[in-house]
Amino acid sequence: MCGIVGYVGARPALGIVVDALRRMEYRGYDSAGVAILDGDGGLAVEKKAGRLENLDKQIAEVGAETLRGSTGIGHTRWATHGQPTDRNAHPHVSADGRLAVVHNGIIENYSPLRVELENAGVEFSSDTDTETAVHLLEREYASGEHAGDFVASAYATLRRLEGAFTLVFTHADHPGTIVAARRSTPLVVGVGDGEMFVASDVTAFIEHTRDAVELGQDEVVVITADSYSITDFDGAATGGTPFHIDWDLAAAEKGGYDYFMLKEIAEQPEALESTMSGHLQDGRIVLDEQRLSDQDLRDVDKVFVVACGTAYHAGLIAKYAIEHWTRLPVEVELASEFRYRDPVLGRSTLVVAISQSGETADTLEAVRHAKDQKARVLAICNTNGAQIPRESDAVLYTHAGPEIGVASTKCFLAQIAAAYLVGLALAQALGTKYQDEVVREFTELEQIPAAVQTVLEQMEPVRELARSFASSDTVLFLGRHVGYPVALEGALKLKELAYIHAEGFAAGELKHGPIALIEDGLPVIIVMPSPTGRALLHSKMVSNIREIQARGATTIVIAEPDDEAAAAIADHLIPIPATPTLLQPLVSTVPLQVFAATVAQSRGYDVDKPRNLAKSVTVE
Ligand code: F6R
Repeated sequence: MCGIVGYVGARPALGIVVDALRRMEYRGYDSAGVAILDGDGGLAVEKKAGRLENLDKQIAEVGAETLRGSTGIGHTRWATHGQPTDRNAHPHVSADGRLAVVHNGIIENYSPLRVELENAGVEFSSDTDTETAVHLLEREYASGEHAGDFVASAYATLRRLEGAFTLVFTHADHPGTIVAARRSTPLVVGVGDGEMFVASDVTAFIEHTRDAVELGQDEVVVITADSYSITDFDGAATGGTPFHIDWDLAAAEKGGYDYFMLKEIAEQPEALESTMSGHLQDGRIVLDEQRLSDQDLRDVDKVFVVACGTAYHAGLIAKYAIEHWTRLPVEVELASEFRYRDPVLGRSTLVVAISQSGETADTLEAVRHAKDQKARVLAICNTNGAQIPRESDAVLYTHAGPEIGVASTKCFLAQIAAAYLVGLALAQALGTKYQDEVVREFTELEQIPAAVQTVLEQMEPVRELARSFASSDTVLFLGRHVGYPVALEGALKLKELAYIHAEGFAAGELKHGPIALIEDGLPVIIVMPSPTGRALLHSKMVSNIREIQARGATTIVIAEPDDEAAAAIADHLIPIPATPTLLQPLVSTVPLQVFAATVAQSRGYDVDKPRNLAKSVTVE
């Protein structure tokens, strides 16, 4: 949700900043802009509504030489306050044209601040909350307590702001210095050789350095070409958390695929392997940054999973396994609903917060609510040092590598695997499974990457099928048991990528209403339970298929190879390898991802950047 970057060094900043924006465009793509200091007191700004390519064209028209200098900031926007127009694009500049700011998040007290500034005669040139910050700083620098001191004036400004934000300031009088601050939304420093970066995400500078420092909540960093200093908002040194990025530029690039999403779908076997790797040691499940003792796990008497979107679907799937293995009650709740009711939580409740980005505002607030209620919180996250794991009691990282396509794919499978590890760790601590059973479940999980690889190698017929249904107006998805959340996920992928009305249902619910939607030729995708593992559910699903076929539906059935009944009645069959029932979602999801991506491509859409969406949602 908005990508921001700052660079100070010896090289021309423009190319470095624009390349960084290109890598962070997944965070928002409503508009983009840059501000470059020429080092002689000049500040040049270019910004443009729409995708980064529009800014590229504008820079080509004005001439890159107008943006010379080796200090620069940049922004790619996902609009919150104000339409995605040129006028609302960042950077925002002070009235004297000497100060520029880029911002991610929301300044919640912007209304009273705007009134205060307007009463003082300040004229606003955008509808954004961000502009208040640049005017406040301009006034502080001109006539405040720290007049003429850019850094101290920035601290004074930051102390007046409320909300969740990352801000990056630069001033024409102070080339070679950038001030940036973090409150809830992410900010990392990239430590180069004679150059420094600040950015929302390490992908911005991975090409230049793999040494980074994570800022914590309410921290400020001042960077120059060869130094960085991190403090709290009052200027007391804090230091940040240094880390080394263990993946490289190739992982953040498309590697021959047309879209990141297609690459990420193909990377799923590896993502699963990395997520599981090292978690079985000497016959026991170990969760790396567990920070919860076996006794803590033994004390758990209820599990809550909180998450949003695709991560919520991972939680729905995990519920089946965790309840089965531990006999603990598991509730799965949309994070956006969780804290607005009065969930029953206590010291013995384990709240599992699932978030790929670790930034999602709804999930973060759910974590805070759970902690206020004294529950233990374990985060499942793909982003090192993000806010949700920082605020949780424990974290289990899904080592899926960077996920850049906006729609979550490999992180979804990794989240399911990680949640299963949590279930096995609980079963082990509680003694609800014998240790050899825990090991057997883990070993079965270890077979899944190969099964996913098999599915991936058989996707051409699915792509053909998807192309033939690309002009559908509605597609329905049906599942039962663990296949039900898979159906929900299949529908979410199709609607977000292809902008087609898609809905997932528990097949048993059909006759309670949704069957009224069935009409001639309506495509219905069915996730078939295993004919051996779930014979009863399987036979009920066969009846459901007959019911909808009788009303004209065209059925596309995902089924195991020995499912003769499915093969006999399906209008179209998508085979998947047989797996233990609880693990089936890890393979049955894959054709649905491929189906959605192919329909979207056939309709001419950019699957990496679906309309109106952003990769991380840092506002509620
Ligand atoms: C859909 C998708 C979203 C995210 C949701 C939560 O493809 O990616 O529904 O799953 O916004 O995001 P994280 O996992 O970052 O909390």
